[in-house]
Amino acid sequence: MDRANVLSGAACRTAAYAALAVVAALILTGVTAFSYLSATLDTTLAQQIRADEIMLHDIYDGGGKADLAQAISEINNPVAQTPRVIGMFNADGTKLAGNIDRMPPLGTSKRMVLTTTDHNARASSYYLNTARFDDVTLVLGQDLSLTDAAERSFLWVLLAAGVVLTAAILGIGYGASRSSLIKLTRLERTLDLVSNGDTDARVPVMPQMDQIDRIAARVNTHLERLSGLMISTRTTAAAIAHDLRTPLSRAFLSLQDALTRLDRGQDPRAAIEAADDELTSLGGIFDAILRIARIETQSGKRDFKPLSLAPLLADMVETFGPVAEESGQTLALLSSSQDAQILGDERMLRQMLVNLIQNTMTHCPVGTICTLRLQADDQAVTLDFADDGPGIPEGDRIRVFEPFYRLDRNRTTKGSGLGLALVKAIAERHGAAIHLSDNRPGLKVTIQFPPEVPVKPVVPVKKGKSASTRG
Ligand SMILES: Nc1ncnc2c1ncn2[C@@H]1O[C@H](COP(=O)(O)OP(=O)(O)O)[C@@H](O)[C@H]1O
Ligand SMILES: [Mg+2]
Repeated sequence: MDRANVLSGAACRTAAYAALAVVAALILTGVTAFSYLSATLDTTLAQQIRADEIMLHDIYDGGGKADLAQAISEINNPVAQTPRVIGMFNADGTKLAGNIDRMPPLGTSKRMVLTTTDHNARASSYYLNTARFDDVTLVLGQDLSLTDAAERSFLWVLLAAGVVLTAAILGIGYGASRSSLIKLTRLERTLDLVSNGDTDARVPVMPQMDQIDRIAARVNTHLERLSGLMISTRTTAAAIAHDLRTPLSRAFLSLQDALTRLDRGQDPRAAIEAADDELTSLGGIFDAILRIARIETQSGKRDFKPLSLAPLLADMVETFGPVAEESGQTLALLSSSQDAQILGDERMLRQMLVNLIQNTMTHCPVGTICTLRLQADDQAVTLDFADDGPGIPEGDRIRVFEPFYRLDRNRTTKGSGLGLALVKAIAERHGAAIHLSDNRPGLKVTIQFPPEVPVKPVVPVKKGKSASTRG
């Protein structure tokens, strides 16, 4: 993994900014807390010094300089070590008593390093204060080593917290950036594989489903569709070539037959008519293929209008009922919900119904009863189209939607195997789910449309307008 790539990742950059913000916040709170801590410690020392000062002032008031000097030397007893220093000086600065050598140069700062005159004389820092009793100057100080230690510990803790926090934030940022980069690299590699022809390649999707995983899942859905289209294009092209060859060669043979008849001085009319039939059926197949392709490639619902399915079904049954009756079958509308509103293209929907009716008439025997049911609720508008004919075995119920797929028993019946492919294309174009089931006996086609709440007046269904039959 390229480290420069990881470091330039968004997560890494965000972590760097977060670390900067944390460091800035720590410095700010550290400075405030440190000054508060110092001020508090100084106040405590100042109070102790003030107590000493009051006590020494009382002694001075009672016995003058001599008593004061005596008291100071007792306080500074080297045996009973105390954390304080006291110096007593004349107005000209000469030392009178105490363990401070020279009058310290007292400026604004109250903290100062002094060397005491004790037997273990050592330099140490003290908090100092001065008091004046007539012409005597008293310098009183408290040892700062404990205060210094407390302040140093505070600074170390602050520094350690800063280092640990910054390292943790940068580490998390680096980790997140690295995992994003790994995922993006996989995505890139998969797209490369697919563009090089591997239609099975998919992006791995992690269960935590972060933003990249969601994109990966989306990419997979699109790849799935794309490879499905590529495969179906391939198989459809092969099926078209295969299925067109038979009528084409039959037309060719008929034309040859016509020529032979002409050569022999016989009437070629029958052979020419046979060729014409084959070529007309070829034209029909091409028409259906183009229609399916057009519907599958269209997108958006710009041409769709809100329409009510009940009058459309009633009209279709009225038109095709007599045709079915002529072939000894029955076509009936059993129930029809008047609120069944969908957004759709009326011409396409008529074509879809025609294909289903046509199938019943072609693939079911005399006496078959075909029924239509329309129901609507908040979730869906459901159209059930059922017959009591031979039905379709379960194993073939998906495959019959493939172009040119026909059951073995129907290989010789009229048709090209494109009817249900067109039905499916139209259903999908309307966002409807289509599914075949066993009507016990017979075939049941269920189509579930997404419902449309009527916003405009319903488009009236024109009577007597019928689509051409295909498939
Ligand atoms: N109502 C039905 N009952 C029984 N089989 C059917 C029915 N509708 C379709 N099929 C089967 O499904 C196949 C595909 O139908 P379709 O795509 O319309 O093609 P075609 O009608 O041209 O054969 C048919 O060949 C037939 O075997
Ligand atoms: Mg058909």
